[in-house]
Amino acid sequence: MKLLDRNEYPARRQRLIEQLHPNSVALIPSAAASLRNGDVEHPFRQDSDFYYLTGFAEEQALLVLVKNQDSSSVLLFCQDKIVEQEIWTGRRLGADAAPSILQVDQAYTIDQVDEIMPNLLDGKQRIYTSLGANSAFDQQVLHWHHLVKQKVRTGSTAPHQFSTLEHLLHEMRLIKSDAEISQMQEAADISAKAHCQAMLSVAPGMFEYQLEAEMNRIFMSAGSRWPAYPSIVGSGDNACILHYTANNQTIDDGDLILIDAGCELDYYASDITRTFPANGRFNESQAALYQLVLDAQAQAIAAVKPGNHWDQPHQAAVTVLTKGLVQLGLIKLDPEYAGQQQDPSSEVIADLIEQQAYRPFYMHKTGHWLGMDVHDVGDYRVNGEWRQLQPGMVMTVEPGIYVAPDNEDVDECWRGIGIRIEDDVVVTEQGCHVLTDGVVKEIADIEALMATTESPTNIAKVGS
Ligand code: GLY
Ligand code: MN
Ligand code: MN
Repeated sequence: MKLLDRNEYPARRQRLIEQLHPNSVALIPSAAASLRNGDVEHPFRQDSDFYYLTGFAEEQALLVLVKNQDSSSVLLFCQDKIVEQEIWTGRRLGADAAPSILQVDQAYTIDQVDEIMPNLLDGKQRIYTSLGANSAFDQQVLHWHHLVKQKVRTGSTAPHQFSTLEHLLHEMRLIKSDAEISQMQEAADISAKAHCQAMLSVAPGMFEYQLEAEMNRIFMSAGSRWPAYPSIVGSGDNACILHYTANNQTIDDGDLILIDAGCELDYYASDITRTFPANGRFNESQAALYQLVLDAQAQAIAAVKPGNHWDQPHQAAVTVLTKGLVQLGLIKLDPEYAGQQQDPSSEVIADLIEQQAYRPFYMHKTGHWLGMDVHDVGDYRVNGEWRQLQPGMVMTVEPGIYVAPDNEDVDECWRGIGIRIEDDVVVTEQGCHVLTDGVVKEIADIEALMATTESPTNIAKVGS
């Protein structure tokens, strides 16, 4: 698996420390394990903030950044190396090896934390932590704070300010470094190949989860351990369920299949949606709606550039979709404007957008930040205004149209069609770069790929 350059982690910690108030301590815990059933846990996935600052994937760990008046240090608490436990649950790094491997100043075992933490907090003014994210950890922090307060008569002073860490850390995570972008490009390339594989291997009669299996095979054989989120493989009107993950229906001839799936690569997500016909050919109504979504996506991508704000791509998509839905007759104009159904004026379109006439068919936004989390961190508004796009931000552009199967306000030929087209885009100095252009999306290109006799197995070898 391609790993991010390990030197990124100490550099990030340093940048964060520079932003902390002197005389403070920042506490960043690892993720907590969660039960799947009985005594079986979900696969452990490290907390993104913790991993962003450490590159360390073990549970029961705590990163502590100590900022003094004129100096700083980085401490890690981690699981002890206990052979009897490692036989059951796997190898551990251990506190002895952590300083050299993770480039931290000191490391201790996690069972020393209650003894050491009050001393670290004593005399500090401020504690930075992500309050509310992990209530068990919040309780622990309050407990440590209380232990210091109990010793005030012996000369201890407890911090008197609590600050959330996210406003600093998540601003850092929002702007990706060159190394992060190259990692995300690699994740995007693997996911693009998996989507091509799905187009090549689909056949009516398959279960949706069998297509999911094909994608997972490509993810893993190309070096990704997990999908970045539960894959959506929706055929027919399942494509109209935005978070459909059951993936347990058979695919019918004539269905469109919407696949929203992306791999994670060393904690960086990709997020791609493609929609294609089970039998390799779009029918007329499928093609009309598909082309409309594709046109909306093109306009939205064109709006991703520095100087534009976060919502401009969404506004561009909504404008194209609204006009197209009118022209295709899914949005019906009031009788006084009926003459404009084929060529609505910009005033009519603006009016319809104001009324959100598109919402029965398009009920989500056109994208989100993308990074270590699939819906990544970072504010969308700053001081009440939509955020300006800046180079290094990565976002998805994912317009869609979903016509409910029981929507009797539209002609039958449209009902039950669900389409989304999603790409991952990095903002550059000049505009943007599409990370996920390794998978086709023009109608002719999808049909041509699906008509090839190219062996899916050949495609499967890519990336290895
Ligand atoms: N795959 C989740 C999303 O597209 O937002
Ligand atoms: Mn998305
Ligand atoms: Mn998606």
